Amino acid sequence: MFNVNNVVNFQDTYECLVVGLYDKPDKFSGSLSNLDELFQGQLTELVKSGDISAKKKSVSKIHTFEKIGTKRLFFVGLGKEKEASFEILREAFGKVFKEIQSAKLEEVAVYLDSFTSETIEALDATHALGEALPLATYEFEGYKQKSNEPKKEIEKVIVLTEQDEEEIQAALTVGYVYGKGTNSARTLVNTPGNLLTATDMANYAQELGDKYGFEVEILEKEDMLKLGMGALLAVNQGSAEPPKMIVLKYQGKEEWKDVIGLVGKGITFDTGGYSIKPKDGIVGMKSDMGGAAAVLGAMEIIGELQPEQNVVAVIPSTDNMVSGTAFKPDDVITSMSGKTIEVLNTDAEGRLVLADAVTYAKHHGANYLVDIATLTGGVIVALGTETTGALTNDEAWFEQVLEASYEAGEPIWRLPLFENDIERVRSSKIADLNNSPGREGHAIMGGAFVGEFAEGTPWVHLDIAGTATTNKTTDMGPAGATGVMTRTLALLVERFEGMES
Ligand code: BES
Ligand code: ZN
Ligand code: ZN
Repeated sequence: MFNVNNVVNFQDTYECLVVGLYDKPDKFSGSLSNLDELFQGQLTELVKSGDISAKKKSVSKIHTFEKIGTKRLFFVGLGKEKEASFEILREAFGKVFKEIQSAKLEEVAVYLDSFTSETIEALDATHALGEALPLATYEFEGYKQKSNEPKKEIEKVIVLTEQDEEEIQAALTVGYVYGKGTNSARTLVNTPGNLLTATDMANYAQELGDKYGFEVEILEKEDMLKLGMGALLAVNQGSAEPPKMIVLKYQGKEEWKDVIGLVGKGITFDTGGYSIKPKDGIVGMKSDMGGAAAVLGAMEIIGELQPEQNVVAVIPSTDNMVSGTAFKPDDVITSMSGKTIEVLNTDAEGRLVLADAVTYAKHHGANYLVDIATLTGGVIVALGTETTGALTNDEAWFEQVLEASYEAGEPIWRLPLFENDIERVRSSKIADLNNSPGREGHAIMGGAFVGEFAEGTPWVHLDIAGTATTNKTTDMGPAGATGVMTRTLALLVERFEGMES
């Protein structure tokens, strides 16, 4: 996919060449003066006439009429040099790759050194490039009968740079792996519930495990009965599909300590159960396994990059259905932890399956927990569709998650979790907990409930109900699943600093 070429020669022949352009008085200074000279200053003229723009994320395409080796030049505007950021670069690369893909060009050369600045180092620009390519050009194939037009993919990217070849190649690969992992999560979320059952998800995880050498454990219904996983079993009670508790273990350290537990909600379809969803609210509920997808996407990245960390991924998976055998409001169930739960709303099923999964992650030695879930409509009301909601019981652990999310460009915002919030999930008159203490602050209630099972273990809860899907096409991908938090989780693992050792 990527070739790094240390000899920057504009006379080499490529299908197209991508050049970054910062908005500064002399746009073709430094490394680009050479290029403008080959055009006898005509590029500067084209800037003056507005045919080439340095405006942030603008793309100007010009034909070179054989003045240089390549046929087409794509100028990518990067805006003011001082305001440059990793995010702007990633989106700029995304935008130009999308244009190149729609122009059906299969080979592209990128003049990397035109993208660096005082604030953007070459390796960051390289990571942005590697990540943007798969993210921006992602498409969910879907199930339409063959269209006439065969899809053209960008197959080869030649990176022209005077930087160290090996380092650039490595950064390209890492960026690409992050983008690919996110795309895998997107595809899982885009896949409808009839084609991605809990069994399918378990098979997918097994294949991932086989590929990367993870230890895989798939608990069946009988195992869950033995272990007393009454919460996951209750949600599955109305389903014709068997539930799965999926566990992947990655050991990158000599000893099984400082273990990060990634727990992802894997509801393959959420009807709401007897607290059934209205006809408008039910459409789209195939995405209720967005947390599981992010965890699996992150495990793919971890498998590729093999960091020196220990990770246990736990995914409770089932659909939430209605039938004569389904669980009901007013039921009282017993979770694996022994805590009893009064079910007031069968649509608050995510926290139930996560309860047993968090307990099971601890059982596997997790010392630091992140649970990630499309948990509440409440988080969408609170934070909208571009910010993931977070809760925690541990400042230092939250700080690590926040930094990873910042670096990944996936914003999260913390909601409060006070003693009186916790009181509300403990307010059942007949059981230890209740799964739905009412509408007020219900994004907090969802997380607070899961936190009861983390107990003293450092824990962060990420509610991606608003961010797992989007109805907007952006420079970073099409409408549909976003694969949100895949990169944050993988970065969290890569950068993790244990507090035990
Ligand atoms: N899967 C939903 C949350 C959701 C809503 C995800 C919208 C994506 C988009 C979850 O299981 C749910 O139904 N939550 C309820 C909880 C309530 C009953 C306490 C909700 O948010 O309405
Ligand atoms: Zn629900
Ligand atoms: Zn749900």
